[in-house]
Amino acid sequence: MIQYKGFWFKPMILEGVLLASRAFTPRADDVVLATQPKCGTTWLKALAFTVTTRSCHGLGADHPLLTCHPHHLVPYIEILGAAGGHVVDLGALPSPRLLATHMPMSLLPPETRSLGCRVVYLCRDPKDTLVSRLHFENKLAAQRGGAGPSMDDAFGMFCEGFSPYGPFWDHCLEYWEESMARPDTILFLKYEEIKLNPARVVRRLASFLGVPLTEQEESSGVADKVARMCSFETLTGLEVNQVGGVSHGNRVHFDNSVFYRKGEVGDWVNHMSREMGEKLDRIVQQKLHGSGLVF
Ligand code: A3P
Repeated sequence: MIQYKGFWFKPMILEGVLLASRAFTPRADDVVLATQPKCGTTWLKALAFTVTTRSCHGLGADHPLLTCHPHHLVPYIEILGAAGGHVVDLGALPSPRLLATHMPMSLLPPETRSLGCRVVYLCRDPKDTLVSRLHFENKLAAQRGGAGPSMDDAFGMFCEGFSPYGPFWDHCLEYWEESMARPDTILFLKYEEIKLNPARVVRRLASFLGVPLTEQEESSGVADKVARMCSFETLTGLEVNQVGGVSHGNRVHFDNSVFYRKGEVGDWVNHMSREMGEKLDRIVQQKLHGSGLVF
């Protein structure tokens, strides 16, 4: 990985980040979904897409989410070709655009802030994030006939701050501090709180994105319907999420299914020792000390 302005990137991703910082032009009504990899990006894309497009797509049997992968529906700003294998011309998309990024806040174009674009940030317990990434990297390596990193290596690197788009804590902190300063433009969410009560998060998302649930929608159970449509069970049961793939700039191919594994909170206990978990918790607590952000 290469360090750029305090954050670590794989070379191919850094190319996209640099290109985005030059070529991406934010619009005031853009909505940006920001995450670190493996924090629940796919889920957030599904939820935000369903919430923001419900007036035109409804929630019925012909909903796009039932036949398109969430990464196909919501393009990344910096990962070219992630949306179903073709490079989306972001400038040609109609407003309001729903976009995603893994970029740190400080690398987004300054207009994102000055124009007041709404940002939804999703983070996740670092232990589960690391375990999820390890499985992801191992699956990709196996596809290429190689071997991925061991848990010990990945753990050691993560604790030192080496993770894609990391250090993990600095990425979270930038968005956290901004969400404290400007809560009207940044909504800070955790994977665990969505798991706990997805319908509540659907309501928060809808209000934050300027499309609050109407009384009629409340009484017809729309929040629960959206949560169910975007649930791990529904998405993993769809053919589109079991077959096919997403190619990143023709250089890496991801099977659609690779973005789904267990979708659970606390799976780290099955993959790292209690001592490792405690060590990582201590490091993260130290790094976040005084910020008010806790995992
Ligand atoms: P696990 O590997 O712990 O199962 P990302 O989308 O940022 O790549 O994150 C992938 C993680 O989110 C994986 O976690 C995946 O299973 C989980 N995930 C994907 N879709 C989900 C959903 N609809 N509900 C809950 N978790 C989901």
